[in-house]
Amino acid sequence: MTDGEHLADAESANAGSTDAKSTDAGSTADSVAADGAAHPLAHIPVAADTVGLLEGIASTRSIRRYRDEPVPEDVLRDICFAASRAPTGSNRQPFRLIVLTDGPVAAEAKRLVADAAARLWRAKRHHDGYEAGSGSDDNSPKARMARSMDEHISGLATVPALIFPVLLRHREPTETEGSSIYPAMQNLLLAARGRGYGGVVAMWHLPVEVDLRNLLQIPDDALLAATVTVGKPVGGHGPVRRRPLDHFVFDGRWGSTPAWAVDPPNTSHTSAGPPGTDRRNRSSADT
Ligand SMILES: Cc1cc2nc3c(=O)[nH]c(=O)nc-3n(C[C@H](O)[C@H](O)[C@H](O)COP(=O)(O)O)c2cc1C
Repeated sequence: MTDGEHLADAESANAGSTDAKSTDAGSTADSVAADGAAHPLAHIPVAADTVGLLEGIASTRSIRRYRDEPVPEDVLRDICFAASRAPTGSNRQPFRLIVLTDGPVAAEAKRLVADAAARLWRAKRHHDGYEAGSGSDDNSPKARMARSMDEHISGLATVPALIFPVLLRHREPTETEGSSIYPAMQNLLLAARGRGYGGVVAMWHLPVEVDLRNLLQIPDDALLAATVTVGKPVGGHGPVRRRPLDHFVFDGRWGSTPAWAVDPPNTSHTSAGPPGTDRRNRSSADT
């Protein structure tokens, strides 16, 4: 597709946006109760949050351990709303979110994911050497990460909310198709943070994708893009830890680091994971 075609495509997508409610089958009807009354949440704005946007970005960590509390519907509404506001190519809005909380289907989906995650984590723990080196020190980041993962895995079967983002493909699979669904996942996590909740994007569904597709009646040509778990955090959010800014930014050409690429005060750093792979992430700017 040429740039011009992209633009034309975007314009036609946007042109339809004002009457999307009347033309997008199902979306309006589904939010109206059988007696014709709108759901009470239709009158309730998204909750005001006290976390600033930039602070939220810098402190939304993956939350893997959750209190044994349901995620209320207004929170589910707000985080899914945030996801639905994410940008997508040509504003196609090509994803749907399957939200599972309680009931037999949710229980079965959680069980499938929990079993798959246990298998994947066992293999990763071994492969990435979580017990080796600093991992033998109980207080090392590696050991803490492994403990957090153990707890995450053991809580998955009863996780408060399990959300599957699904991408509806409009063409054959492409390398870039994920770019129209993963921004929505980050919006969802940021909104959860704003509402005092937390979550993690994971790939636990992969070994049981066929079972999940059958259970949840996901169309064959759609991409099951992730497994997202959400709940009230045990513990709190905290500063996101990454490599220093000068690792990420080049000035005009590859490998030239601008003088302004310095972290703000009190930035927390960590190497690029998983353990032992940091060297593969080096850029030519590294010393
Ligand atoms: C595309 C993607 C896939 C991920 N897959 C997993 C996963 O399978 N299991 C998991 O525990 N975390 C997964 N994560 C979470 C990352 O491990 C996490 O974001 C990363 O370690 C940084 O930690 P932080 O989010 O707490 O800052 C994934 C994140 C992304 C964006």
